[in-house]
Amino acid sequence: MLNNTSFDMLANNYDKDVGLSYENNVYPFFGYKNLLNTIYNNIHIKDTGKILDIGFGTATLTKKLYGDNYDIFGVNFFREMINIAKEKMPNANLFCYNFSNGLPKNLKDEKFDFIISTYAIHHLTNIQKIEFFKLLYTMLNNNGKIFIGDVAFYTKKELNKCKQDNIDCWDNNEIYITFDFLKRNLKDFNMYFKPISFCSGIVCIEK
Ligand SMILES: C[S@@+](CC[C@H](N)C(=O)[O-])C[C@H]1O[C@@H](n2cnc3c(N)ncnc32)[C@H](O)[C@@H]1O
Repeated sequence: MLNNTSFDMLANNYDKDVGLSYENNVYPFFGYKNLLNTIYNNIHIKDTGKILDIGFGTATLTKKLYGDNYDIFGVNFFREMINIAKEKMPNANLFCYNFSNGLPKNLKDEKFDFIISTYAIHHLTNIQKIEFFKLLYTMLNNNGKIFIGDVAFYTKKELNKCKQDNIDCWDNNEIYITFDFLKRNLKDFNMYFKPISFCSGIVCIEK
């Protein structure tokens, strides 16, 4: 369940905690830097474009893209993280919104070249993910791409193995992507999965 206050308290320590996790090669953030770099490099196939970041957090990835002159839009629920991101990207279009309710009305007429989300989609149930990805797809320009990076696996079996191996620190409140479930439920989508580490990967959906 979302809890605004606890996330706000986490915001200032977030970058440090992520760093500790990926430097020590442990779940959940092992592969974090590589995952963000992979999405960054894939976006740079185009020199310009409009990007929507879902759950941008402290803007680690989006601030780099903002610095490269991409047009940045973002949605995040937690005020403290928005304040940190706003300092880094003063001209970005940042919206305070709970994406489990879809997207804010202000975005309804917008189309994007890229829609990205890193380490945020696990806050949606699997059924919500399907509906949300369908919505995101409608917001893509032709040839647009969605990149969803998170703790993620090809199959439930791989997820369960990772859970058993990390049972002491496994977060049961987070619902991680299993790509075969997405494939089964989004049959018409042109999509693929790129594993990044033993516990992370990127789902790419192309229009
Ligand atoms: C673990 S952080 C990841 C931040 C950033 N994308 C990154 O990779 O470092 C998850 C982010 O998603 C946001 N978030 C989680 N659930 C949300 C929801 N239902 N609606 C909007 N934002 C949400 C949190 O505020 C937080 O900024």
